[in-house]
Amino acid sequence: MTRKILVTSALPYANGAIHLGHLVEYIQTDIWTRFQKMRGHECWYVCADDTHGTPIMLRAEKEGITPEALISRVHAEHSRDFAGFHVAFDNYHTTHSDETRHYSEDIYARLKAAGLIEVRAIEQFYDPVKAMFLPDRFIKGECPKCGTKDQYGDACESCGAAYAPTDLKNPYSAVSGAKPELRSSDHYFFKLSDPRCQEFLRRATREVCKSQPEAVNKLQEWLGEPGENKLTDWDISRDAPYFGFEIPGAPGKFFYVWLDAPIGYMGSFRNFCARKGLDFDEFWGRDSKAELHHFVGKDILYFHALFWPAELEHAGYRIPTSVFAHGFLTVDGAKMSKSRGTFITAESYLAQGLNPEWLRYYFAAKLNGTMEDIDLNLDDFVSRVNSDLVGKYINIASRAAGFIAKRFDGKLDARHLNETFRAELPGLIEAGEEIAAHYEARDYARALRRVMALADQVNQYVDKHQPWQLAKQGGQDARLLEVCSLLINAFRLLTIYLKPVLPKLAQRAEEFLNVAPLHWADSGHLLPPSHLINVYEHLMQRIDPKQVEALVAANRESLAPTVQSTVSPAPTSAEPQSPQRHAQHQQHVATPPPQPSPAEGGGARGGAFAPVIGIDDFARVDLRVARIADAQHVEGADKLIRLTLDLGEGGTRNVFAGIKSAYDPAQLVGRLTVLVANLAPRKMKFGMSEGMVLAASDDGGKTPGLFLLSPDSGAIPGMKVK
Ligand code: MSP
Ligand code: ZN
Repeated sequence: MTRKILVTSALPYANGAIHLGHLVEYIQTDIWTRFQKMRGHECWYVCADDTHGTPIMLRAEKEGITPEALISRVHAEHSRDFAGFHVAFDNYHTTHSDETRHYSEDIYARLKAAGLIEVRAIEQFYDPVKAMFLPDRFIKGECPKCGTKDQYGDACESCGAAYAPTDLKNPYSAVSGAKPELRSSDHYFFKLSDPRCQEFLRRATREVCKSQPEAVNKLQEWLGEPGENKLTDWDISRDAPYFGFEIPGAPGKFFYVWLDAPIGYMGSFRNFCARKGLDFDEFWGRDSKAELHHFVGKDILYFHALFWPAELEHAGYRIPTSVFAHGFLTVDGAKMSKSRGTFITAESYLAQGLNPEWLRYYFAAKLNGTMEDIDLNLDDFVSRVNSDLVGKYINIASRAAGFIAKRFDGKLDARHLNETFRAELPGLIEAGEEIAAHYEARDYARALRRVMALADQVNQYVDKHQPWQLAKQGGQDARLLEVCSLLINAFRLLTIYLKPVLPKLAQRAEEFLNVAPLHWADSGHLLPPSHLINVYEHLMQRIDPKQVEALVAANRESLAPTVQSTVSPAPTSAEPQSPQRHAQHQQHVATPPPQPSPAEGGGARGGAFAPVIGIDDFARVDLRVARIADAQHVEGADKLIRLTLDLGEGGTRNVFAGIKSAYDPAQLVGRLTVLVANLAPRKMKFGMSEGMVLAASDDGGKTPGLFLLSPDSGAIPGMKVK
């Protein structure tokens, strides 16, 4: 029976880059939808950028552009990153769309008509300088429990205490620094405490999360016992200035970003339907027979399993079939960290030339359909990809292909090999349905273990029959052809089983096998007799551990504040976040002002001197003699030259110097100069700059040019300059 399935991933915020943590989710969802499509079901995968809210408004303001310009730029960046990892959405839309506005207004109107919207005045902190109300995350102050300074308005990062922003001592606005005032304002609430909602949620959450008992337990905890009414009404409005949709009939009031964000799933699908001629109501109507599945991180589980179904139910739409929650990504056992270089963006992974399918495979091998966190262990990543994918799977094709090409003109055995295949490689065909069941249950780890056990079996067959020996002996051609034909068939079956995880590799394998795109049902039979295959070209490289080291180095940022940090607050606990903790969930503000670029070689202005410092201050600067081992133009940069500096025993450094206007790279190679060796490394568009070379210039403008400093001859790379 053909199923109709609509699948979503959470909508990423439009003010930050996609990183490997995000990719856990998008890769997980993509594998599932590709699998469903291979099974022949009608399956659509939609997503969008989540574009509204205070952080996006402020970020645009800081960049001096409109929020619309910001979100359209980020939309292009996100689309590029997802495509780079072969995440194949059927539609990637935006919540700042007519469709999402339409359904937001529609759902709101229906909830209002059902008597589930209430207006109440609440007191909130107000920034008198910026003339705006402040979300909790934009208020800082001293923790009321432990006194740590500069804590956010909802929780202390030092002692973990949760509190209201009004509990903070000496609060200040993270936007302007002003002392906030308490002001009253009317807010719109969705009455989740209404008995209709409570009763509905008790039934629905169980249903929606049935595949994850740990999620059901969490939600039970948040809902409390019947009659306990733990779930309080949900504040769905924000005051102007706000980037979002204004609430109809409520001038100056906007829908809170989390009200319209999930509605963005409908908006994106509606937009898709219009282009494809599909019937929207068949998927979202009250009586829909289609499946609707949301893949989300555990941090936003309750939005999807509580608030969202309650909205849909009481506005007359269907509710989700399921919400699948996954855990958080850690790298080498710890939270992703910018200073350690483990906060890795999708863009940098691809820019370093790493193969996206390595990561897809590794994540898949770790994803088991539960809410457990997922660890990217970098050593394990290298060894698992190399030993499983290249060593076991690719190896099968590379062992057999050459003989078929050279000795048999690319033509497989002319006999029907079904019986022989089942006898020699038992289980390989039969495993198809079992593996499919693991994919269906999102236990990719188990699916891949099974596939690799089959690959082991095939490799044992290779070792037993040693085609290279058969090729050397005379008169064994028939046997050699049979063995290699079986191996090509085995490789084809494994390709089918791996295809949801490795779509590009499978595509290249299909070209090599000379077959149409493989579907799951193709695993029920072998290639026809005398099938012609194409010349084999190596399908996948091994990972060189150096590539991973370079990736980490490229993402390592100094601890000093750098330009714009836009990390969304990752939950620090292994627990899903509670509705209370999240009631005002917003992102960190990007406050630190841009720092001048040390590598761009700006010199001190002639004239006034900088304030006096002591010798100790000066001694903190570690200056070293460096030999310019290499100098290169940097594509796309009109001021920079990339220098490779030799520091003798201190190794080599990569430094971008803003000296292109004065020097030709070729004339620099071999020269000695002076390097600030303990300057915090700085991530630039073109890579990491690990220090700064010294040059003189007259910014006053009388003497044009730049003058690189050099020690007298005889100095040796690595020597200290004092
Ligand atoms: N905009 C909201 C979602 C709205 S859905 C209607 C949001 N955006 S996000 O960019 O912060 O996160 C998008 C998804 O990525 C979420 O499901 C989140 O859980 C997931 N992840 C973000 N960081 C992650 C890790 N470090 N590890 C695993 N998943 C992570 O939340
Ligand atoms: Zn504290």
